Amino acid sequence: MIPRPTQPKVLLGVTGSIAAYKAVELARLLRPLCGLRVVLTQAGSHLVPVRALRQASGSPVWTSLFKGSNPIPVGTPSGTHPLTFVPHIEYAKGADLVLIAPASADLLAKLAFGIGDDLLSTLCLYAPCPIWVAPAMNARMWNHPAVQANVRTLRARGVVFLGPESGHLACGEVGDGRFAEPAEIAHQVGSFLGNRELWKGKRVVVTAGPTQEALDPVRVLTNRSSGKMGYALAQAALNRGAEVTLITGPVSIPAPVGAQVTAVKTAGEMAKAVLGGLARTDLLIMAAAVADFRPAKASAQKIKKTGRVLTVRLVPNRDILGEVLKKKRKGLVVMGFAAETRDVGRQARAKWARKPTDLLVANRVGEGAQGFESDRNELWVFKKGSVRPVHLGPDLKSRLAERLLELVDLKRAGDGR
Ligand code: PMT
Repeated sequence: MIPRPTQPKVLLGVTGSIAAYKAVELARLLRPLCGLRVVLTQAGSHLVPVRALRQASGSPVWTSLFKGSNPIPVGTPSGTHPLTFVPHIEYAKGADLVLIAPASADLLAKLAFGIGDDLLSTLCLYAPCPIWVAPAMNARMWNHPAVQANVRTLRARGVVFLGPESGHLACGEVGDGRFAEPAEIAHQVGSFLGNRELWKGKRVVVTAGPTQEALDPVRVLTNRSSGKMGYALAQAALNRGAEVTLITGPVSIPAPVGAQVTAVKTAGEMAKAVLGGLARTDLLIMAAAVADFRPAKASAQKIKKTGRVLTVRLVPNRDILGEVLKKKRKGLVVMGFAAETRDVGRQARAKWARKPTDLLVANRVGEGAQGFESDRNELWVFKKGSVRPVHLGPDLKSRLAERLLELVDLKRAGDGR
């Protein structure tokens, strides 16, 4: 008999955010995608009725560490004896994803500090699976330094953030902190669950961030790249089960947990890291903003100000993508980027003709554009075999990264090695 594939298990945590009522819609959308279980915090229970969540999810709604479903005398999830049934452990056992949506500021603080004072926070301390959060709160709360510090801590620890979005908030204000659309959250969860093993055994190399070229021991020639686009792509590749190497210039954001990180400074170092691993790469994504030039000679000492004009001679750096394309073997998929300040479509098409990558992702950079530094971007993707570019966004870089990887066909990767 062919064993039935087991359904992935998702634990949906609902907290006391004003957007808690939207969890009902979310539960309804998630229900067909997975084995769904719901944990509602006490604050959450003031904002959304247990019955509504129970009906939408088709599952029991757990609310407490101590009462209601504890102890469960028969049929405990893992068949344990009632006396040894410990809810926060039993409920989290075998979960493939803990999704907290909406996540309040309070819950983020508990996660960041390892506080376990109720069922949801305790369960998160045990959870043997990824934790995703979709925050929803007032903009001033979201931007509060304490909340942002917790967000940084959690991101560094591998917690994935879905949103928040910017826009009209429940309190009547406008700003950051809006709950991501339930349909979008369900889409992300569905693609995570469906794609977890899609690229298992594939090796993905992502370059990200700027490069720095020394002028003297204290000054560098660099650009505004934050690494966000490349890091989002590395995370998206990890979500698909790939082995990911992130070759990164100097940035101040945490690397996705699970990626193997190679830190570089100069274009020369980045070239060495990319070309050195090329034979074992299935997909190369060149999202780094590589400096095209470097000072012909870096001064050994700090250049002193003299009051006169200083002329610096720049020489071209290695063109990493150009070198990759010369060595490209069958089975290696290459995604290049094109950063343009004007006439994006035409300039990118011309660049693509010079550097015929499998995919070329064009974006606008410079004054007022979203390409550099922002959490958002807008992309035009040129793909071999397609006449017109695919237009993506404007959207969060995390979502664009998922969409970009959906355009990559890795089935033939590894052929011809
Ligand atoms: O990091 P963020 O703040 O999130 O910003 C994201 C981004 C704008 C940096 C990113 O989306 C992007 O566009 N990256 C490519 C930037 C760039 O260098 O574009 P380009 O048009 O100058 O180069 C074209 C391609 O050649 C790129 O894939 C680049 O990595 C590569 N290149 C460039 C120069 C060089 N010497 N060697 C290269 O391989």
